[in-house]
Amino acid sequence: MDRRTFLSWVSVGALASSLPVALAACTSEKTDTTATKPSDSAAPARADGFTVVGTVKDLDQAGFIQDKNFAAGPLLVIYDPTDKSKLVAVDSTCTHKGCTVDWKKDTKTLACPCHGSQFKPDGSVAKGPASKPLANFTVKTEGDSVLVKSA
Ligand code: FES
Repeated sequence: MDRRTFLSWVSVGALASSLPVALAACTSEKTDTTATKPSDSAAPARADGFTVVGTVKDLDQAGFIQDKNFAAGPLLVIYDPTDKSKLVAVDSTCTHKGCTVDWKKDTKTLACPCHGSQFKPDGSVAKGPASKPLANFTVKTEGDSVLVKSA
């Protein structure tokens, strides 16, 4: 083997050994930096169908719990403004065209940013263009945990 052939083989070997590193850099999963709350971690449902979606402390601090990874659809949990001892859990998917509604504490409505629909805290329509209510889920607390039933 002459010197030129030897150097060719060495450079091919160096390229081949760096290929896995380059592929790994290109295919690594991106980290979802928006999933900061424990409620966004897609916790498994218990045998009774309830899933822990957050804590009462989370709810008290933020005024709502949002779980975009809830098994039955994007979830929003709030206190019932007419009875603070009760919780309300709705599918936060707007029934007009599928945008995600937000809880507006000042107006006590679930408001869609896309076309202006508004829903009452129980999920019923307060203002169109949406004509169907938001789906409701059964919600309860156990100690400091907030649990929602997906089925
Ligand atoms: Fe909500 Fe249109 S998607 S009002």
